[in-house]
Amino acid sequence: MSASGKDTLTVRDNRTGQDYEIEITDGAIRAADLGKIRTDDDSPGLSTYDPGFVNTASCRSSVTYIDGEKGILEYRGYPIEQLAEHSSFLEVAYLLIHGALPTKDEHDTWVHEITHHTFLHENIKTFMQGFRYDAHPMGMLMASVGALSTFYPESGRIDDADNRHMQIVRMIAKMPTLGAWAFRHAQGKPYVYPDNELSYTENFLAMLFKMSEQKFDADPRLVKALDILFILHADHEQNCSTNAVRSVGSSQVDPYSSVAAGIGALYGPLHGGANEAVLRMLRRIGSKENIPDFIKGVKDGNERLMGFGHRVYKNYDPRAKIIKKACDDVFEVTGVNPLLEIAQELERIALEDEYFVKRKLYPNVDFYSGLIYEAFQFPPEMFTVLFAIGRTPGWLAQWLELVQDKDQRIARPKQIYTGDRTLDFVPAAQRWA
Ligand code: CMC
Repeated sequence: MSASGKDTLTVRDNRTGQDYEIEITDGAIRAADLGKIRTDDDSPGLSTYDPGFVNTASCRSSVTYIDGEKGILEYRGYPIEQLAEHSSFLEVAYLLIHGALPTKDEHDTWVHEITHHTFLHENIKTFMQGFRYDAHPMGMLMASVGALSTFYPESGRIDDADNRHMQIVRMIAKMPTLGAWAFRHAQGKPYVYPDNELSYTENFLAMLFKMSEQKFDADPRLVKALDILFILHADHEQNCSTNAVRSVGSSQVDPYSSVAAGIGALYGPLHGGANEAVLRMLRRIGSKENIPDFIKGVKDGNERLMGFGHRVYKNYDPRAKIIKKACDDVFEVTGVNPLLEIAQELERIALEDEYFVKRKLYPNVDFYSGLIYEAFQFPPEMFTVLFAIGRTPGWLAQWLELVQDKDQRIARPKQIYTGDRTLDFVPAAQRWA
């Protein structure tokens, strides 16, 4: 309760002189409450105009907490730093979906379930083989996940908890298989079937890179680094793709169709594609000596320092700190990416420069992630696929929350109509006569 003892907002409508008292809950007012503010009984009530949902909460959620000012990210209350250091991607996936950490039995059952649903129907393979040789792997992933809804028509029964669980397991399990096959497709290499004896992340690396060897043997340091990257991308509350999953899911369609919509949103360069832009920028800078000139260009407004700045974080993105550390482990195996030196110097100079300090521009998750992905020998088109695999448990946790939330209704924003009205239609023959 506030100092005045009232958690309400008093609004005076200067058009009518009338006062309204609106309840404040959790620091928010209900937009629908503004609807009672009207000039007369026939006029529409007041609404808010908020393109991009800059200051509008679309849901109540207990999945992920972010404090952008302080640089805090937590999944279900656990700090991202602790999860990245001590957990595994599948345990984090369990945490996101179920809301609590698993017991030993729950963990083993979960891992067993996921491991035994990694295979795809052979017709999905044929479906993927039908894409052009140069198809973007994100387009292939989006289409294939959408296609899975036709293989599991029961997935439309979203009010059945066991059925929901089955689809969640399937999607987390099959995403690496789909991602790896999209990668192999571009290379003209045979698709590799999952190996149930390998861990989730090892199996993904095997399906990507295995050739004629009997057993693919991934370096454990690379497996750990990729697992950490998946953990860091697992959820980020109401971002563009999660909002797409929720918005489409609010129509009560099956979860494959909802997640396919999320993949479509992530495909866009403003969302999933910034790490690729960082690599292009570092290559263009070319050497440390050119950094001051580049920084001057950024400050003059000629370009942006990609991988810096964030809508929410006004502090060091906690994910960027962890990725920076993971770089060392990966480069120990693969050799140092020569662009790392430029990135580190760029970061050092930018963090001391008044332009960046004043605007609170710090490295974000994408500043170092592209360097790691490149060290794994992923082409840039695959970066977003890796993001999608990591984000799948988050999308599904948010979808699950949505379909069980009694407050939720079909997503249907209002508009402010700016077009013509009541024109008289003249048939084409008369208009063109
Ligand atoms: N380089 C130079 N100046 C910048 C940058 C940058 N990277 N980012 C923001 N600014 C400046 C901007 O010019 C503006 O300055 P002024 O007040 O003088 O006009 C001020 O900082 C505020 O920027 P904004 O564009 O209003 O901030 P935003 O919240 O709308 O944009 C952003 C956030 C991430 C789109 C932006 O910082 C950006 O373009 N960064 C580079 C691209 C990038 O790294 N994107 C990855 C985001 S993290 C991925 C994820 O979490 O999904």
